[in-house]
Amino acid sequence: MVRTVYVNGEYLPETEGKISIFDRGFLFADGVYEVSAVVNRRLVDYPAHMERLGRSLAELRMDWPCTRDELDAMHLEMIRRNDLAEGIIYMQVTRGAADRTFNFPKPAPRPTLIAFTQVMTLVNNPNAVTGIKVITTPDLRWARRDIKSVMLLAPVLGKQEAYEKGAQEGWMVEDGFITEGTSSNAYIVKDGKVITRGLSNEILAGCTRRALFRLAQEHGVEIVERKFTPEEAYAADEAFLTSASQFVMPIVEIDGHRIGGGQPGPVVRKLRELFLKEAGA
Ligand code: PDD
Repeated sequence: MVRTVYVNGEYLPETEGKISIFDRGFLFADGVYEVSAVVNRRLVDYPAHMERLGRSLAELRMDWPCTRDELDAMHLEMIRRNDLAEGIIYMQVTRGAADRTFNFPKPAPRPTLIAFTQVMTLVNNPNAVTGIKVITTPDLRWARRDIKSVMLLAPVLGKQEAYEKGAQEGWMVEDGFITEGTSSNAYIVKDGKVITRGLSNEILAGCTRRALFRLAQEHGVEIVERKFTPEEAYAADEAFLTSASQFVMPIVEIDGHRIGGGQPGPVVRKLRELFLKEAGA
């Protein structure tokens, strides 16, 4: 099926969607993005994604490409036009196209807004039944990981390393502690308590993380926000990650160390179930 993509106000066949070679997203990674899940044709955690988009734009001193209402309508229209029952909507805003200068171009170009959909099996993802494998890798990213920027080369290399080692995700390590996954937040469970790094410029504030915190609180699961080392993770009872495209995903192996006997444990299974229920699965 030829998808319908969105480019600066127009809905086009994916083969027709084009942007300028002078786009600053292309030249400088001068842009931000969001990935929102769709389950049963409905967006998951969408207001949180738009809130984070506003923050990312503000931190990079970029304008909104359109009104929030228009962005909301665009997301719904993308589901409709692509008949998207389950998958993701990717949207990206860049500072626009202008002659190449490092400083912000003057006059400010029109921001570039694009979006596309991808069909994915999110709810019945077979990885959630078996659990996935993770490796650790150095965190090579910049100091503003709280901004959801499109500058993703370090995560690309980290994820590729994971795949080449037979794992599905890389947990990045800085100063001896795990920061987060290449495209997800990282958690371990010990003695029934969930442990995850606190929010700062060192990690992205995940929307799925935020939903998880709320669900955990509502259902009496304690979450402790603190750093943890790879060694502590190897000895954990359970481990998991969260992201818009993986939801709550059990991890059964880290750097070749089996976690929880190699099976998804009770805490992560419960949290995934709660998340799926709320997502309308
Ligand atoms: N990645 N940390 C990083 C570095 C991420 O790239 C992501 C999301 C997350 C989780 O955030 P959220 O729960 O809001 O998806 C944490 C998206 C899914 C991606 O780049 O595809």
